[in-house]
Amino acid sequence: MVSCENSLKRSKSYIFGFDKLVEGGFPDGSSILVNGSPGAGKTIFSLQYLVNGAINDNEKGIYFTFEEKKEALFLQAKQFGWDLEDLEKEGRLKIISIGINLVDKYSVSDMAEIIHDFDAKRVVVDSITTLSFLVDNTLDYSSFNIRANCLLFKLIDRFKKISGLNLLLISQKDAPSTNFAEFICDGLLEFSSESLGGNYSRNLSIKKMRNTKNDSDLHPIEICDEGIKIHTFF
Ligand SMILES: Nc1ncnc2c1ncn2[C@@H]1O[C@H](COP(=O)(O)OP(=O)(O)OP(=O)(O)O)[C@@H](O)[C@H]1O
Ligand SMILES: [Mg+2]
Repeated sequence: MVSCENSLKRSKSYIFGFDKLVEGGFPDGSSILVNGSPGAGKTIFSLQYLVNGAINDNEKGIYFTFEEKKEALFLQAKQFGWDLEDLEKEGRLKIISIGINLVDKYSVSDMAEIIHDFDAKRVVVDSITTLSFLVDNTLDYSSFNIRANCLLFKLIDRFKKISGLNLLLISQKDAPSTNFAEFICDGLLEFSSESLGGNYSRNLSIKKMRNTKNDSDLHPIEICDEGIKIHTFF
């Protein structure tokens, strides 16, 4: 259990059970890898971080998705009572869906310019696994990996120059760029989903959080009508 808070400014998720595991929130200006298996709750957690930031802290957020259509995200969010269309109309949120046919039209610099112009404080990239398709995929495996890692390094370096920005990077467990991302990011959240004979049990563990005495236990995740909850037993 982690209780004392140090003096760093923190970006709160306001997600049930989460902030107390990381001394009150992510250290301002962090890059956090949200890693895990399919269906484990990575998208819902990240979306909720943006929605809560817009509502509670009046912080603008951008969700870049290479995975889902905007309408699909609107629909998923509605199930938890989050009206993304309204938040967009109010200028508090931007959802940018980049289809596979558009992938090479968005460079890291284009994305950074959008973040800067919108004055976003919270950004999600869903996911760095699909982002790697920006790399020429006709390359052989090892050249592809090197180029994908360089792209990720460039993205983090470029985004970190935007003052006070908190970045969540979603990745698929064991994907080629995940290993590298695990140690260059400031924080690593691991979402898992285990089959228990028909039912699935989801868990979260915080593998690292720079500048933070983080809790590293395995915590059950519940996905309910209000979104995601992290159970902590304390
Ligand atoms: N309204 C809901 N109530 C309860 N559980 C839900 C609800 N909506 C979605 N889920 C659960 O959440 C899961 C999806 O969560 P999420 O999209 O965050 O996963 P993910 O880790 O991003 O997966 P992927 O790697 O496939 O993108 C679904 O598979 C479903 O089990
Ligand atoms: Mg997802």
